[in-house]
Amino acid sequence: GTPAARSDKTVTLTVDGFEVTVPEGTSVMRASAEAGISIPKLCASDNMDAFGSCRLCVVEIEGRRGTPASCTTPVAEGMVVHTQTSKIKKLRRGVMELYISDHPLDCLTCSANGDCELQDMAGAVGLRDVRYEAGENHFAARNTSGEANPQWLPKDDSNPYFSYDPSKCIVCSRCVRACEEVQGTFALTIEGRGWDSRVSAGAASDDFLSSDCVSCGACVQACPTATLQEKSVIEMGTPDRSVVTTCAYCGVGCSFKAE
Ligand code: FES
Repeated sequence: GTPAARSDKTVTLTVDGFEVTVPEGTSVMRASAEAGISIPKLCASDNMDAFGSCRLCVVEIEGRRGTPASCTTPVAEGMVVHTQTSKIKKLRRGVMELYISDHPLDCLTCSANGDCELQDMAGAVGLRDVRYEAGENHFAARNTSGEANPQWLPKDDSNPYFSYDPSKCIVCSRCVRACEEVQGTFALTIEGRGWDSRVSAGAASDDFLSSDCVSCGACVQACPTATLQEKSVIEMGTPDRSVVTTCAYCGVGCSFKAE
């Protein structure tokens, strides 16, 4: 969920009644995982700094007000964390409901079906119904008829290796951070606000191919939906097996289909 903390000092806390001792500076999310408790998440990852944007990982901490994000909250001695209260479960379902209200509902025919963290998390939080009307920008055209609509955000297929479909983006910023923190390229950014917020590979008219993108694939690996996907996966499906290698001079790691 979040990177490991490096400290000789340790902190002991309880998560859902389980005592766990972790290095000082560890996130509540990671400490929970150490205690065997998996907290739903969308924007956190093991190899990038916590960002706290998706709000799916909220928890309750005794003696503290509100419902902090567990990925950005560091542990403290004697902390008592609850990750599965009825209030928390309701909040998470509400957050997920908002995401899904602005997302295409073509899961069964989506190229990421079965390999999509958004789909997994919708199931994990028990989302069964969406009460809101479709979002205004990402999703206005993604109706059951499948007809095109002027508001349908166009795909960017300019990169030879991967495709970018903004209609499926949840703006978690994992791709932007992977580009910066993992690859050190700074080719991506988030532009706009609210319904208009989206990942951009440069100025408004720029596509991935004409941006600073070096096609390393870090953003594709980081994406939790079908927004950024390898073209080979879209065409041939998810590989049965993959092998991850890491070159001595490259921190990304490359996945490819094993023969
Ligand atoms: Fe914590 Fe997204 S995983 S806010």
